[in-house]
Amino acid sequence: MEHEYWHNRWANDEIGFHEGSVNKFLHEHWPEFAPRGNETVFVPLCGKAVDMWWLYERGHPVIGVELNEIACKDFFEEGNAPANVKPGEPFTRFVHDELELWCGDFFQLVPDDLRHVHLVYDRAALIALPPTLRQEYVQHLVAILPEKTQILLVTLDYQDDEMQGPPFNVSDAEVHSLYGEDYDIEQLSLQVLTRDHPFVERKGLSGATESVFRLKPNSPS
Ligand SMILES: C[S@@+](CC[C@H](N)C(=O)[O-])C[C@H]1O[C@@H](n2cnc3c(N)ncnc32)[C@H](O)[C@@H]1O
Repeated sequence: MEHEYWHNRWANDEIGFHEGSVNKFLHEHWPEFAPRGNETVFVPLCGKAVDMWWLYERGHPVIGVELNEIACKDFFEEGNAPANVKPGEPFTRFVHDELELWCGDFFQLVPDDLRHVHLVYDRAALIALPPTLRQEYVQHLVAILPEKTQILLVTLDYQDDEMQGPPFNVSDAEVHSLYGEDYDIEQLSLQVLTRDHPFVERKGLSGATESVFRLKPNSPS
């Protein structure tokens, strides 16, 4: 996906992916996922997801990475919290206490940027990308994360010929093929979205599924 595509979506307020409330899977699975409660969380391709406020309010330092500046500005404005803006290359950082949004390209991140990260929350990041970019995304993510970092991943699947993403359909098999070499993969839930589900109806799909995975690095450590 070209950067221009996402900038246009934000400029035209075409952000149907934005939930505006805490993701139900995050809410449900987070306690088992983050037992300490103060782990640093990385949120790739974060948009202005309010999930980041939810994580921060629970005591997690959060780093989100987002290409578009409107998203970063809106996030703090809508959260009624001022951000200290630190212009820079390759990221302009919007900082509010231990909640930081880095405005720039995910692919510019280097391992040192994420050295304090313990957990990753991926909702609508992997599925926002077309197939070839998904491989690059996973390779880059795995390369920049500290060794023991676990990932909470939410995916969406539907019949390939019924819609052109984003959001793209990512099968459970693809999750295994993308992450299986480096991670033990546990499926935490599978939800079937029937024809009357608003997303399925809006996109004219015959149905869809959402899966939640817990990915644990399998490297000996
Ligand atoms: C489908 S949205 C999901 C946003 C968020 N995860 C959520 O749940 O609302 C994907 C987001 O990724 C951002 N994005 C796309 N490519 C990116 C990149 N290379 N680096 C950083 N952000 C990117 C887009 O601007 C968009 O806000």
